[in-house]
Amino acid sequence: MCGIFAYAGNRSDASQLILHGLKLLEYRGYDSWGVAVIPRGKGEGKRGKNEIVVKKRIGKIGDANVNELPSSSFGFGHTRWATHGGVTNVNAHPHLDCFNTIAVIHNGIVENYEQLKKNLIKNGHKFQSETDSEIIAHLIEEYSKNIPFPKAVQKTFNSLEGLNAIIAINTKEEQFCAVKNGSPLVIGFGKNENFLASDAAALLPYTKQVYFLEDNQMAIVNKDKADVFDVATNRSVLIKPITLEWDIKQSHKGNYPYFMLKEIHEQPDIILEIANSRLNEAMKMAEVIKKSHGAYLVGCGSAAYVANSGVYLFSKVAKRHVNFAVASEFSYHLDFLNDKSLVIALSQSGETMDTLEAVKRAKVKGAKIGAIVNVLGSTLYRIADYKLLIGAGPEKGVASTKALIGKLSHLILIAYSLAGKGNQGKEVLIKAAASSKKLLQSTNINNIKKLAKLLKTKSHMFVIGRGLSYPTSLETALKIKEISYIHAEGLAAGELKHGPLALIEKGTPCIVFAPQDETHGANLAGAMEMKARGGYIIGISNKSHEVFDYYIQVNDALEGTIIPNIIVGQLLGYYLSVEKDLDPDKPRNLAKSVTVK
Ligand code: F6R
Repeated sequence: MCGIFAYAGNRSDASQLILHGLKLLEYRGYDSWGVAVIPRGKGEGKRGKNEIVVKKRIGKIGDANVNELPSSSFGFGHTRWATHGGVTNVNAHPHLDCFNTIAVIHNGIVENYEQLKKNLIKNGHKFQSETDSEIIAHLIEEYSKNIPFPKAVQKTFNSLEGLNAIIAINTKEEQFCAVKNGSPLVIGFGKNENFLASDAAALLPYTKQVYFLEDNQMAIVNKDKADVFDVATNRSVLIKPITLEWDIKQSHKGNYPYFMLKEIHEQPDIILEIANSRLNEAMKMAEVIKKSHGAYLVGCGSAAYVANSGVYLFSKVAKRHVNFAVASEFSYHLDFLNDKSLVIALSQSGETMDTLEAVKRAKVKGAKIGAIVNVLGSTLYRIADYKLLIGAGPEKGVASTKALIGKLSHLILIAYSLAGKGNQGKEVLIKAAASSKKLLQSTNINNIKKLAKLLKTKSHMFVIGRGLSYPTSLETALKIKEISYIHAEGLAAGELKHGPLALIEKGTPCIVFAPQDETHGANLAGAMEMKARGGYIIGISNKSHEVFDYYIQVNDALEGTIIPNIIVGQLLGYYLSVEKDLDPDKPRNLAKSVTVK
């Protein structure tokens, strides 16, 4: 979940470059940050050698600088999300050994850190922080008394339990020792300079040539080269860099106040691009589904809701049952999978740990893996047998918007392709793009802003829908919760009468999705049930109805209406967040990619 950026080269302003790299990773969310460099000139350390110089602070980088750090052409930085130990300057990374000659940054959780720490303390090591990460620096210090530094890093990594990515440096050689299982690490290749980062998007200003480290691979990277080997076998690995497709311009906010709003507005073009260029790819995936004996869509959070909508789409459009599961649960009920099964994982980042776990377990059972993923070269992308790139460009708002609509657009195209009606799927997407564009016009935006003003003081809301509007309701409730911190519950409209109606009282906001499909009448009936208990009904439909107290118009786009409907939820979540003076790009307690279990 943390951000990592490392630089080795000829520039003399490594600390500034690293701070800039960390700023590019800010969107992932963090509570503290730190930069460490090895000075260019000679500085006297406790052992008479150069010492590593570190600056660490809690809070956002904001206008902070690293001007006091010495001139350097080698160093690294980290943005931390606290796990072990509170949010303090000392707990921020990088962490040092007892002599300030070894520094470590770490992403993950060292599950056996207590035992390791006890042994290190017995051996005389002094700890500064409460973190599990600091033990890594001391363990390397301990091992490197007898073996070369890279071997000491390797031995340390092998002593750690849990999923970890670490980069270690020492003052003797200007080289990074980077090793991982679980959390991502990517090497960026420049001219006379090389980089390491936790996320390829941070490398875009410097290079598009990258290599994603596989689990249990260790890289030794200096300014001239990167050597990679397998930590279990010590065999060296031939690296084939790939070229990133993203454009640096796509990762700027432009005139928008927040990335989330920019990304919401990009969606009509992304839908059209998918409609116009992805039919062949969709047809290939449809063929794979056709041949499978049991296909399953999995994902987490918003991606799980898109996966859920796939069940309705494939049934309705292609008359085919495709199952769905929340990835974190799928691992517990996949024993029935076999070598004819197909598991399609949906993910923006391609690094979500729960999704990867599910896919890896499915693979062990012999299932084939499909991926609909936004990040080229990500772990999911590499694991998958059949891959579809979403093509939404870098998504920087923590709450997923355009990548999720990209996933959904692909599912629509695949469902129609499976029915042998790919071109009809394309038309549906073109309609969905037009309806979304209309929704994003200022009169409609103002209508949603006005609603946000009305609702911002509320503590609870309910969102209902049936059919494709059920996952829409779940996604809308999630968007409201995660960025405005208002409790919102998404429900299948038919479930209201099985208990939840007890919570509807005078003035409770009730959002009702009522598109012009087979669910229209039943959704309105749900609205009436809530109105009868005093609920304040917010209707989202192509036409108004007397039961609505507030109305948001969404033009009909057949099965594609789910797309503009979800965008209503995104906009409402966004404006509620802004109305409450929150930062919609960086919601509390949520990271852009959740790389822990
Ligand atoms: C919600 C959100 C998360 C992600 C989830 C999966 O707005 O962003 O629920 O959808 O963490 O992430 P990916 O798609 O990267 O696997």
